[in-house]
Formats: sequence, structure tokens, C-alpha cells
Amino acid sequence: AQVDKSGHKHFMAKEMAEQPAILKAALGFYSGLDSDTLELPEGIDFARTDRLIMVACGTAYYACQVAKYWFEKYAGLPVELDIASEYRYRDPVLGRDNMALFVSQSGETADTLAALRHVRPHVAQVVSVVNVLTSSIARESDIALPIHAGPEIGVASTKAFTAQLLVLAVLALEAGRARGFLSAEDYARLVEDLRSLPGFMAQALDREGEIERLTKMLSQARDVLFLGRGTMYPMAHEGALKLKEISYIHAEAYAAGELKHGPIALIDSDFPVIVFAPFDGLYDKTVSNMQEVMARQGEVLLISDPAGLKAAGEVPHSLQMPPVPELIAPIVYAVPAQLIAYHTALHRGTDVDQPRNLAKSVTVE
Ligand code: G6P
Repeated sequence: AQVDKSGHKHFMAKEMAEQPAILKAALGFYSGLDSDTLELPEGIDFARTDRLIMVACGTAYYACQVAKYWFEKYAGLPVELDIASEYRYRDPVLGRDNMALFVSQSGETADTLAALRHVRPHVAQVVSVVNVLTSSIARESDIALPIHAGPEIGVASTKAFTAQLLVLAVLALEAGRARGFLSAEDYARLVEDLRSLPGFMAQALDREGEIERLTKMLSQARDVLFLGRGTMYPMAHEGALKLKEISYIHAEAYAAGELKHGPIALIDSDFPVIVFAPFDGLYDKTVSNMQEVMARQGEVLLISDPAGLKAAGEVPHSLQMPPVPELIAPIVYAVPAQLIAYHTALHRGTDVDQPRNLAKSVTVE
């Protein structure tokens, strides 16, 4: 069936708007009968897995980067993570109790598929997280998990990214349960946190008007720096990638703590710096890095929740997000990352759905 924009100006806008509904449906798909538990298809053996190898490209790789924190924190599972084009051509050490996990919206990315074929004979299980169940990557996996995002037309991935994150969160929590790493209470609380996701996504999307105003400043910039720590570090990467892809502004992401080891030399009053910092255990450290930027007249935009914005005091620009449970924060904060890129691109008049030089699915290595 032909997919249309359903009244939206761009496919990207439509796909961002669809996120609460998609995540709700995907949660339904991965829910147990009693809805207090999650459920995965038969056969995924986390109890036996001694190491998880995650491989992907582009936005899907940043989803894996977030998931690495989750698998370590909620399942105590060692994780190795790489970009497909690098993983395939080094000499990765594989073990027969390793599980390999490939994440791909299209399921056809050549580098990811090549990496899958390379590890397949050597590992216990090959699992994939895909949007297209008939794709090569899905067919060549032992188990393919659908993200249920529906067709994604915009070249810059939005709804597929957040749906990938949801499925990866389900996997991490189920790994934690299967390995006896999570207590029953913690598991139940985390499942409840996950269930609150669609509502928070809708609240984040409601900030669009404010983001439209904030991005006027960004659209004049030549370079933009994104900072974050923990799961907000891959989110900084995703924000920078989206901005590069559709607005053609040079953007870079750094782990906030690494700022002083180089990029701080770039800071002056023409350099917008976007900081993702929910009020969590890493907040104080991230904000102290942000203050180093402000001391050098950097044009800071702080994205945080009410408690975080209050604790930060005066900042040049801020964007208020709802207070969200730590598990789902990176999924909710993906929304401002997307909307910032989208509105900056609109201010600049670039082609949001079909950015120059980019392809939706890259089937050459
Ligand atoms: C291309 C697309 C990106 C995507 C990446 C990986 O670069 O433009 O949006 O993240 O490929 O694609 P995949 O289909 O494997 O997720």
C-alpha cells in the first residue's frame, strides 16, 4: 500500500508524531499475558550467554550504544559493541557461548549483513532486531524480533530508532530476569517504567513549539556540539547525526567528561553546545562540564527536567522535559534530538525527507 504523509508536511514529521502509538503497540506485542511481565519469542537463551556482541550501522548503532548500558546495568551481561564496517574487518574473538545481536531498520545494510555472516558459524545464537521481517538480516538470524514501526520513509531514522530502543530495553530486562540478575521487585518496577513510555513520548512531542523557537539560534550556527554522559552520551551522538544529516550543519558529540581533553578549545560565543542532562546520578558531573562551556561564553542549550533546570540556575537557553524514569530517559530524550534537527533544517530550507548524498538503505559495503 502507498504510504502518505497523512496531513504532515514531511514524512519525518509524520514518523516522529507516530512514536507514542507505535511504542504502545510494540509494548503490547512484547507483553506477557498478565501485562505485568514482558515476553520474548521462544528460544532466546540469555541464561547460557556469557557475552553479547552487538553490531549495527548509523542510528541503529547508537541504539546499541544505549543498550550496552542497559545490558550491563540490568542484566550483568558483558557486551561488546562495534560498527559493522569495523567489526567485520578486524579479528574479533568469538566464543561458542556468545550471542550476536544485529540491529537494522531495513535488514538489508550490507556491512551489517556481512558481519552477521562472519560471526554466524562461531556463536551460540544470532538474534536480530529489525523493522522488516522478510529482510536478509531477519532471514539469516536464528531469531528476528520485529520493532513494529511500520514503513519508515524519511531518510533520517526517527520512529525506528525509538522502537529499536524499546525492543532492546525489553531484551535487557528479560536478560536480567533469565540470568537471575534482577530481583522480582526491580523487574516489576522496570516493566512499569517501560509501560509509562508512550505517555512520556507524547509529552516530549508537545515541546515542539518551544523547540521551533530555540532552533532559530541553531540554524545560524556553523558548528554545534552535543554533550551527554551515560545513556545520554549515545543520545548526544544521535542528536549530532540527525543535525548533520538534514540541516548540513557540522555537528559533533562528545562525552561531557571528555570535553576538557580537546573540544573545549573550540568554544567561543559562536558555538552552540547542546547538553542532555536529566536529573540523575550523573547530573552534577554533566552540569559542571556545562559550566566550563558557559565560562567561555559558549551558547548553551540545556535539556533537562524541572529538577535539573532548577538546580542549574541561569543558563542561556533551556528546554524542559518531563521527569522520566532513568530506564526510559534515553528514549524520551530522542524526541528533542529529532525535533531540534527537524526544525533547524526547516529554518534553513533543506530537504528534510531526502537529504543530499544519503540513502535510506545502504546495500553496498
Ligand atoms: C543509512 C540510513 C540511516 C540508518 C543506517 C543503518 O545510513 O540513512 O538512517 O541508520 O543506514 O540502516 P539500517 O537499515 O541497517 O538500520
